[in-house]
Amino acid sequence: MKPEAIPSLGEALLGKLRSRDATVAVVGMGYVGLPLALRYAEVGYRVLGIDIDPRKVEALNAGRSYIEHIAQAAVAAARTKGFQASGEFRGTAQADAIIICVPTPLNPYREPDLSFVIGTMEAIAPYLRRGQVISLESTTYPGTTDEELRPRIERRGLEVGRDIFLCFSPERENPGSPEHSLRVIPKVCGGTTAACREVGIALYEQVVSKVVSVSSTRVAEMTKLLENIHRAVNIGLVNEMKIICDRMQIDVHEVITAAATKPFGFVPYWPGPGLGGHCIPIDPFYLTWKARQYGLHTRFIELAGEINRAMPEWVVGKVIEALNERGRALKNSRVLVLGIAYKKNVDDMRESPAVELMELLARRGARVEYSDPHVPVFPRMRAHRFDLSSVPLSPETVATYDLVLLATDHDAVDYRMVREHARLIVDTRGVYLEPAANVVKA
Ligand SMILES: NC(=O)c1ccc[n+]([C@@H]2O[C@H](COP(=O)([O-])OP(=O)(O)OC[C@H]3O[C@@H](n4cnc5c(N)ncnc54)[C@H](O)[C@@H]3O)[C@@H](O)[C@H]2O)c1
Repeated sequence: MKPEAIPSLGEALLGKLRSRDATVAVVGMGYVGLPLALRYAEVGYRVLGIDIDPRKVEALNAGRSYIEHIAQAAVAAARTKGFQASGEFRGTAQADAIIICVPTPLNPYREPDLSFVIGTMEAIAPYLRRGQVISLESTTYPGTTDEELRPRIERRGLEVGRDIFLCFSPERENPGSPEHSLRVIPKVCGGTTAACREVGIALYEQVVSKVVSVSSTRVAEMTKLLENIHRAVNIGLVNEMKIICDRMQIDVHEVITAAATKPFGFVPYWPGPGLGGHCIPIDPFYLTWKARQYGLHTRFIELAGEINRAMPEWVVGKVIEALNERGRALKNSRVLVLGIAYKKNVDDMRESPAVELMELLARRGARVEYSDPHVPVFPRMRAHRFDLSSVPLSPETVATYDLVLLATDHDAVDYRMVREHARLIVDTRGVYLEPAANVVKA
């Protein structure tokens, strides 16, 4: 859809973006920003990556990757094409496009913490100039782009939609899934004005196969929240089903597998030890907070949050029960937590329920260790600390533990070997579908 009249600055920017003769600055070189920056470099843009973490800047400039699923070679290749990283925001003055990919966590009161987004906007504000496009990718509540970014831009005397262009385009990453690379995942984009949207589409259509245009930044922001709330609620539902099935001695995995044969109207979600990752446990509460401003409660979100948050305690209950059946107390038992990343085949530990399991077990006196092929050393985390390294898995090591708690089902683990040698396994992921004397499902 072409707007009535796109301002001349927008026309010039469209030309630069479409001919790839533009400089793209990506702020936040994390799980979202780094692959995006590399993709822009790959297709021929000049790319500047900005991050406040000097270790990341140094690694990137040395051609190194610090994210397991991003190959060193990809960073090195981008470097040969001129990709540079910096801790300075000054370089954004030269950029035609500035894409913001910084964290949007919750504060201790489970309210949105926009300090990274606002901090970024304030850091780039002095360098803003006419003829640029700014795109926010961080997941957030509807209204953020319009209420937090736009006024900070306009305070610089730049009119959004005429002098400078503003859009919101949420990231849709599926870490650890090779078939969902950035280029094949359709990207939603909404602009403050129709001209902003058109510039935003031109920015993204060079790097992804399909851009889905929506009528406003609020629609784009809400779209991302709906996607993640949909997951959180459905995971809450299957976790509740798991508890009910367990009490009725029915295998919930067998039930879901059977239900998934229905060719319409059913989408399988799988239960687990709780929610993990940077998105699903956090993003829904951005909407909860914003809805309050409109006098509304987000009841599905709260209920799913309650069920999902109770999962680690429920799993620990199953561990205690399983040990008790064999005449053992949890206190002083040696427990090996198998898989501690928040989901299979990644090294990402953010909000991992396995960490909460480790803490709950340790608090009750268990001697906890872990094994995870993707996490060789327990990383530094803001709220958690374990001075542990991954235990190498072998028949001998597995056999020394009183219990193996399977928390994350990485593909790179020999589960048959574990079943053959472990004294007792509590499986939270449905890896062991066949009943076995030493396997308890949780
Ligand atoms: N990881 C995912 O799978 C995923 C998927 C979709 C959306 N998102 C959203 O994307 C956003 C970024 O997530 P992420 O996973 O990439 O986070 P991340 O923590 O991996 O990366 C964020 C980076 O931003 C840097 N940073 C923080 N403040 C900065 C500032 N003021 N200036 C420059 N750099 C700064 C940090 O040092 C870090 O390197 C979040 O809003 C998240 O909800 C993430």
